[in-house]
Amino acid sequence: MTRKSVAKPFLEVLAGHRQKVPPIWMMRQAGRYLPEYRDVRAKAGGFLDVCFKPELAAEVTLQPIRRFDFDAAIIFSDILVIPYALGRAVRFEIGEGPRLDPLNTPDKVASLAAEADFTKLEPVYEALRCVRRELDPGIALIGFCGAPWTVATYMVAGQGTPDQAPARMMAYSHPEAFAKIIDTLIENSIRYLLGQLQAGADALQIFDTWAGVLPPREFARWSIEPTRRIVEGVREKIPHARIIGFPRGAGALLPSYVDTTGVDAVSIDWAAEPSLIRERVQTKVAVQGNLDPLALIAGGAALDRAIDDVLANYASGRLIFNLGHGILPETPIAHVERMLKRVREYRG
Ligand code: CP3
Repeated sequence: MTRKSVAKPFLEVLAGHRQKVPPIWMMRQAGRYLPEYRDVRAKAGGFLDVCFKPELAAEVTLQPIRRFDFDAAIIFSDILVIPYALGRAVRFEIGEGPRLDPLNTPDKVASLAAEADFTKLEPVYEALRCVRRELDPGIALIGFCGAPWTVATYMVAGQGTPDQAPARMMAYSHPEAFAKIIDTLIENSIRYLLGQLQAGADALQIFDTWAGVLPPREFARWSIEPTRRIVEGVREKIPHARIIGFPRGAGALLPSYVDTTGVDAVSIDWAAEPSLIRERVQTKVAVQGNLDPLALIAGGAALDRAIDDVLANYASGRLIFNLGHGILPETPIAHVERMLKRVREYRG
């Protein structure tokens, strides 16, 4: 599919200009719900092999664009490449999610490297350059990193946990050691994001998937403040860098996140309260979201209703249509097509 215009509707929304038809992409749009992804993944061996072979990472980044002509591509990688480049052991077991060597005592934290080995991340930059060359000029390219809090939850626990108790506990019991992990992640994430912009990313997203487990004081300290420092650090070098934050589950704390961090947009989860978002968030920044990924699995009338709710709630302002979290592997492709058609037929 070739587009005629070189303007990128996705970037227009980030720059402050509402689009009549909201631009659309999906978190985790390259992934296991696509047979062509499963093929590449099976041939590559492991998930990290796909991330670190530029031709494979570029290929799976482009797969959902070819199929669906989304308005943005997100580079195929993972938030845990930063701990990996910091010298932590990172593995992905099929069906089990990530496994790392737990960084759960002040002694272990004392031995954490200050600087990542950025040569390990060079394949991500190379993949961005490849995608940039092949991508239609009307489609934006998104680079990303995990927010320090969310990355730290995996580093401390060594795996995903239901409520991030190990990291929350360490933040209370050993705040200095925990702050060292966060500071290290801030500095290296700034450098990593700058590298992605230089390699061709048009915008950046900071994923704080586990922000919602923090009490307000801890949220300010471990989610808002580190994100603010990353935004500031990136813009010190690239002043107009476009940045989207995703503090999942922030709820009523979203307005303070937006006011303090300086992001251009926030990605909101499906539980967000529409009037709070419209009055105290969308008046200041663009909003991205927030279809429930389960509605996308359900399909039919339930899907149509859920899509229409997102449009009714937010499309009169600056909206980038997306899911409230990543697409799930069992999602039927026909339902993604149905969603695209319905959103693109919207004339608000
Ligand atoms: O959005 C995209 O298409 C780009 C690729 C992307 C991946 N991970 C690929 C991936 C992005 C943006 C991420 C971010 C990420 N990774 C987050 C934040 C966003 C979110 O979804 O909450 C988090 C918390 C991680 C850490 C992570 N990586 C977990 C917990 C898992 C296991 C759970 C799962 O979905 O399997 C991963 C693995 C992972 N990252 C997969 C993909 C496509 C599945 C790996 C596989 O193919 O087996």
